[in-house]
Amino acid sequence: MLNRRKNSAGKVERTALKTPEEIEKIYAAGRVARKVIALAQEIVQPGMTTGELEDRAAQLILEHGGTSPCLGYAPSGYPPYPAWTCISVNEEIVHGIPGGRVFRDGDLVTMDCCVRLDGYVADTAFTFGVGEISPLAANLLQVTSEALYIGIGCARPGNTTGDIGAAIQKFVEANHYSVVRELHGHGVGREMHENAIDLPNYGRPETGLLLEPGMTFAIEPMVNAGRKEIKSLRDGWTIVTADGSLSAHFEHTVAITEGGVRILTGP
Ligand code: MF3
Ligand code: CO
Ligand code: CO
Repeated sequence: MLNRRKNSAGKVERTALKTPEEIEKIYAAGRVARKVIALAQEIVQPGMTTGELEDRAAQLILEHGGTSPCLGYAPSGYPPYPAWTCISVNEEIVHGIPGGRVFRDGDLVTMDCCVRLDGYVADTAFTFGVGEISPLAANLLQVTSEALYIGIGCARPGNTTGDIGAAIQKFVEANHYSVVRELHGHGVGREMHENAIDLPNYGRPETGLLLEPGMTFAIEPMVNAGRKEIKSLRDGWTIVTADGSLSAHFEHTVAITEGGVRILTGP
């Protein structure tokens, strides 16, 4: 029967859907990405550089037989991305290039890790503090993390990508923070960015794509403590808040199942 409530939503291309075997492979890649994030949280400390954290992450991915789809990634108009991970500090939202930046007590650090293993890709990000963080920073982490889980909670057959984005936006704005508009969640699995699925962290319910079993995508709210506007740095990659405010980013790769959703980068 035609679902009239969702009839403004489109359908995903059949070829974008993953088999159960493919989903297991994405999950295996996700296990490695999750370990990288756990390691980063464990070893980060004041005085360490983003480049040192990157080296430890790359080593762990290699030890598990994985590679990074980020290294050398060059969408048109971008220089090739020069690292395995993205490490973004404080006002940096995403795509921070690891290098000489030194962590200081109170910093907010986003580790965004994408791993390719046995041909399949998973993508996950987590923001955490270095040492003691401010109450504002702690609240921003709490709200952004919860926004991700609210989005995941809307991910089930019959709902739409717009339902997820709208729920994320509503929750973030109710907490007086803002959602970045220019960067979205995306299809993921055979490639890091699969354009069959686009998932803004804002929008209107019942629009976008109808969710169905076999869809795999990254949900990744990017939340600014201040205004939503962004700026790109001259390295061609790093995205920062235009007003210099703090930003946080949490991301999971998920699969839509018959019964709901499975987090492929979670336990
Ligand atoms: N992991 C990022 C995402 O969530 C993509 C990073 S692309 C890179 O979509 F080239 F900057 F690494
Ligand atoms: Co990512
Ligand atoms: Co992503």
